[in-house]
Amino acid sequence: VTTSNLIDGKQTAEDIKVEIAAAVAALKATGQKVPHLAAILVGHDGGSETYVRNKVLACERVGYESTLLRFEDNITEAELLAKVAELNENPAVDGFIVQLPLPKHIDADKVIEAIRPEKDVDGFHPMNLGRMVAGLPALLPATPSGIVELLTRQGIKTSGKHAVVIGRSNIVGTPVSILLAKNLETANCTVTLCHSRTKNLAEICRTADIVVAAIGRPEFVTADMVSPGAVVIDVGTTRVPDATKKSGFALKGDVNFAEVAPLASAITPVPGGVGPMTIAMLLLNTLRAAKGEIY
Ligand code: GUN
Repeated sequence: VTTSNLIDGKQTAEDIKVEIAAAVAALKATGQKVPHLAAILVGHDGGSETYVRNKVLACERVGYESTLLRFEDNITEAELLAKVAELNENPAVDGFIVQLPLPKHIDADKVIEAIRPEKDVDGFHPMNLGRMVAGLPALLPATPSGIVELLTRQGIKTSGKHAVVIGRSNIVGTPVSILLAKNLETANCTVTLCHSRTKNLAEICRTADIVVAAIGRPEFVTADMVSPGAVVIDVGTTRVPDATKKSGFALKGDVNFAEVAPLASAITPVPGGVGPMTIAMLLLNTLRAAKGEIY
């Protein structure tokens, strides 16, 4: 396996965090308050615990204030909506997220819609999604904008290229397909959005200059689906049991890395690819919200 074609998301995210830390220092120097991100975590899902911990640590890294609000699985929807309302009204909090997934008895769409769009630093609120589609200033979802930012900073040319997105989730597949098609500096792609009902998926993928795998199925993308020279972005983060790991599990991407990496002109690893970019973009959204740059 070659490593020269590896896209280092971890380093790119570090670069962004250094830039954010400088912006925070500039705010402080002019007597302004530092950005404040709050996170709501419900229950004890292992993945969510890790993601939220990393988000709080990233806040410390760049000099933000952060608040973690933890609740047990048995919190009611009404109680959670009341917490969201409190954060909406709290002038000390610039932006907040509700970590997903939520327990089944809570309607996640209802919770997301309750967040003030100006503080919706995940970019999940329909107002932000709609503004993104319309090309208006918006808080953009972190993973999709992180993918575009990663392509930009790697100097990967996207204009006129065929991007094939696999997976149509609200969090990644659908919004990244929209961003990649837009008339932005790093975009202007011709986009095909594939999903579980797509016929001839392998054939369509082979026509891609850029493959974005966001289906949540470990090692779904195999060598026969990728054209030599394609750029491969792996968004998968499935936890599979692995006794050789201290944590007891390994993080598996949606791409069979060993097979696909030798073919690709550039490829993101898991971990260390898209994941760290998601957190960097969340911090960037929080800075924009704090500065009132969007609304
Ligand atoms: N679950 C998976 N990805 C995300 C994310 O980006 N934000 C939140 N809040 N929950 C998630």
